[in-house]
Amino acid sequence: MIFAVVLAGGKGSRMGNTDMPKQFFKLGNKPILVHTVEKFFVNPRFEKVIVPTHKSWVNHAQNLIEKELGKTDRVAVIDGGETRNDTIMNAIAYIEENYGLADDTVIVTHDAVRPFVTHRIIEECIDATLQYGACDVAEPAVDTIVECEDGKTISAVPLRSKMYQGQTPQCFKAKRLKEIYLSLTPEEKASLTDACKMYVLKGEPVHLVKGEVFNIKITYPFDMKIAQALLNDPEYNK
Ligand code: CTP
Repeated sequence: MIFAVVLAGGKGSRMGNTDMPKQFFKLGNKPILVHTVEKFFVNPRFEKVIVPTHKSWVNHAQNLIEKELGKTDRVAVIDGGETRNDTIMNAIAYIEENYGLADDTVIVTHDAVRPFVTHRIIEECIDATLQYGACDVAEPAVDTIVECEDGKTISAVPLRSKMYQGQTPQCFKAKRLKEIYLSLTPEEKASLTDACKMYVLKGEPVHLVKGEVFNIKITYPFDMKIAQALLNDPEYNK
């Protein structure tokens, strides 16, 4: 079985002082979260679209989704976790409880705040995960990436042609991801900024799927302006 997991458990602190987390901001005529959920909802390969949301916003998310998609049992809004990876683990626990975890149960995890993901990316992610076990979506780095360990002086300038910028979806066989997560030390867990790094820490392969430059993550107020422009151009809504 294949599940979409639209991660909406964050607080959006980099967006500044707002009265709701950024995934609930309106973009065009509906909330960002709904744009994103719809991309997965229309794909019949998904058994269910799971939407882990911060505890205090579960009812709100549920209402928004119901308003746009109607009452449906193909979407489940559940509690998110303290960190992004805890949120993913909550989704796996939900799957395990309701469907059981088979060796080939696939989760396609995606940031709720990346509404411009395309159907091509989603399809390639599912196929790559079935074939390779895990995949990440990335684009070649546009800027030269410089490493700086002390915040003052450059410590390294990696070869740009080897650098990519990670996006989402990140996709896994759910059972293996859970096993890896449970095997990590607290220090290893603290070093994670995303889920694919768990596989890298364990020396397990993560296949790369090509992203899109416009598959942006809405993080800062500036990104809302870009998102608005993208929404108005059919070229970026595929
Ligand atoms: N996320 C989540 N559970 C968490 C933290 C983050 O599901 N405990 C989700 C966010 O809702 C978002 C995605 O992970 O869709 C990407 O994270 P990011 O943009 O960093 O979101 P926030 O944590 O909300 O933002 P910030 O870091 O600015 O607080």
